[in-house]
This record gives sequence, C-alpha cells and structure tokens, in this order.
Amino acid sequence: MKTRLLSAADPDAPAIAADIIKSGGLVAIPTETVYGLGANGLDEQAVLKIFEAKGRPQDNPLILHISGPEQIEQFCHHIPQAAYDLAEAFWPGPLTMVLPAKDVVPRRTTAGLDTVGIRCPDSPVTREIIRLAGVPIAAPSANISGKPSTTTAEHVLHDHDGRIDAIVDGGPCRVGVESTIVDLTERRPRLLRPGGIGPEQLISVLGDLVVDKAVTAQVDKDAVVKAPGMKYRHYAPTEPVVIVSGSRENAAAYIRAHFEPGDRVLCFEEELPLYDGCNPLSYGREADVNTLSAGLFAALRELDDPKIHQVYARCPVGGGVAYAVQNRLKKAAAFHIVDAEEEI
Ligand code: TXA
Ligand code: MG
Repeated sequence: MKTRLLSAADPDAPAIAADIIKSGGLVAIPTETVYGLGANGLDEQAVLKIFEAKGRPQDNPLILHISGPEQIEQFCHHIPQAAYDLAEAFWPGPLTMVLPAKDVVPRRTTAGLDTVGIRCPDSPVTREIIRLAGVPIAAPSANISGKPSTTTAEHVLHDHDGRIDAIVDGGPCRVGVESTIVDLTERRPRLLRPGGIGPEQLISVLGDLVVDKAVTAQVDKDAVVKAPGMKYRHYAPTEPVVIVSGSRENAAAYIRAHFEPGDRVLCFEEELPLYDGCNPLSYGREADVNTLSAGLFAALRELDDPKIHQVYARCPVGGGVAYAVQNRLKKAAAFHIVDAEEEI
C-alpha cells in the first residue's frame, strides 16, 4: 500500500482523512501530545488493523478521541461531575479520562474492559477529521509498540511507511509527551499516566488524586494493573539507559568517569560544554521544561541505534510536565537511576 502524506494546511486534508477513516482505513493524526495511529473507534475490524500495524498486545486498550466534550455521553455512562469539571478546565487538551464505557464502544477498542479512555485533542485539524468522519477515532501513539512515541510526521513515516493509508502532517507536536490519564471510575480519582497536564493542575480541579503505583515503579509483566499499557517496557531505545541524578557538576564527573567509547549522553542544552568528547545529545533547555518534553522522544529515537552501548541521561526535577518527562525517562531506563551525589 502507498502511504499518502497529507499536509494539515491543505484544505482538502480533513475530508480525505475522514473518508479513509469512514471506510475502515488507518490514518496517522497530529495532536498536541504525539501523533496517533487512528481508525474508526466503533469499527472492530478497523481497530484490529491498529493492533496489527503497531504490533500492540491485544490486552492494551486504545484511547477514543472525540471532537468535543458534548460527545462524552455518547460513549460513556455514570459520568461523575469531576469529568465535566476536568473537561471544562482542560479540553481540548492533553488529558484522557477513564470512564465506564457504553456498549456502543467495541470491546476490541477497550481491550475487553468495561471502561474507556476518552480525550478531546487540541488539534483543530484532527477535531475536524473526527467531525467529518462522524465517528470517534481510536488512536494509540503511532510508534511501533515499545519504541519511543512519534512527535513528527517523519517519525510516523519511518515506522509505518507502506503499512498505513495516510499521515496528516501537522508539524512537530507542541507538548511532545502523551496525555495525562486519570481514572474516574473509583471513589477517588487516580493518576494512571502523567502527561501534559500536571498533577497539581488536576488536584486544583479535583481536590484529590491517588497516584497509581505503575507511575512510580516498574510493574511486573504479569501484574494486574489499572492501565495495562504501563506494564510494558516503553519508550525505550535498544540499548540500556541509566538516569544520572544530582547536581550538574557531580553528574558530569560521574558520567565522565564511567564513559566508554560507544556510549552516549542525553543532557540539557546548558550542560553540553560539560560533556565535550562524550558525544552528548541535548533534548532541550533545563530552564524551559516545555522544550524538554517537546524534544524527548525525537532524542530517544535518535539514540535508538544498536551501535550505541549505553546511554547516560539527565532528567529534570519538579512537577507539571517535568513530572511526565521524569516518568518517560524512568520507563526508558527501566527505573535504573544512579545518584551522582552519593557516588562521588
Ligand atoms: O496523548 C495521547 O494520549 C496519545 C495521543 C495519540 O492521543 N495516545 C496515546 O495512546 O498515548 P497509547 O495507546 O499510546 O496510550 C494509551 C494508554 C495505554 O497505557 C493504555 O493502557 C491506557 O492508555 N488506557 C487506555 N484505555 C484505558 C482504560 N479504559 N483503562 C485504563 N487504561 C487505559
Ligand atoms: Mg503509546
């Protein structure tokens, strides 16, 4: 199959993409977080194609993307007031809510769960495609399963050229890490995945938040978890990644002492001079965490090279989107962290 590359600036793109979705095909869609691999979320056969193209385990549910908050009630029931409050505060935007699913949502989309993750993305062209298709779009991140997510159309082309019908190129994704996922099906709201909306922002609306254990620690492959996706090794380049925490100077001293030819350093732009001769790669500025979230996956993709031996990574501290960057890097490192303050 020939993969069509459509520009989001092309006025015909939304209608072409919507036609492909309606006829059961796969279209990669831009969002503010990462590119999604989209199909008609109500069509089991179309959804099956997503799992096949990504090589995604069948027990990992998909997020349903809608064009506006008024659509929640078409696909969910027993909706708590908190869902409306969050939608009002953060939609369209990088927030997914897990709610009880109505029967109209195929169990192929929810991977057999009776809940569904639902999100209204902040990309006008993608919302227009959903509107024109007249169906919600089920879309996981458009990477091959287990690999770093896709934040440009080129990343999607690299992973899926010839295997999907079209890619809508909306340029690089602004946020760069996936949406925050909050489960609203229990008595207390539960953070299943940190993302573009920080935990503090959620608490400011909800007044309460439980952080799921899968966010802060490695979960066993066979464990029963609330967000099935969280147990898989994720976002990871081929070679081992170790996070080196601590001050700039001590981290650089530790890394330089352990660095061997074939290793790479993933650091902040401000730190580049400290790693002269160590082939460093910057993913953004520590002083502006939004540049780090926006640059993280492109950098992890660049480091996905079997010739590289070991990656030493620097990770921002703090809340907001930094909390999501920490989570993705820790997962890429399988929670392998060295504290340079103790090692020096
Ligand atoms: O920003 C995003 O959320 C991107 C863009 C494309 O919207 N999508 C995305 O999808 O990251 P994906 O499939 O890569 O990650 C979805 C995560 C998985 O970890 C999955 O297990 C979890 O959401 N999930 C989906 N539905 C769920 C449900 N009903 N209950 C618990 N977790 C769910
Ligand atoms: Mg993903």
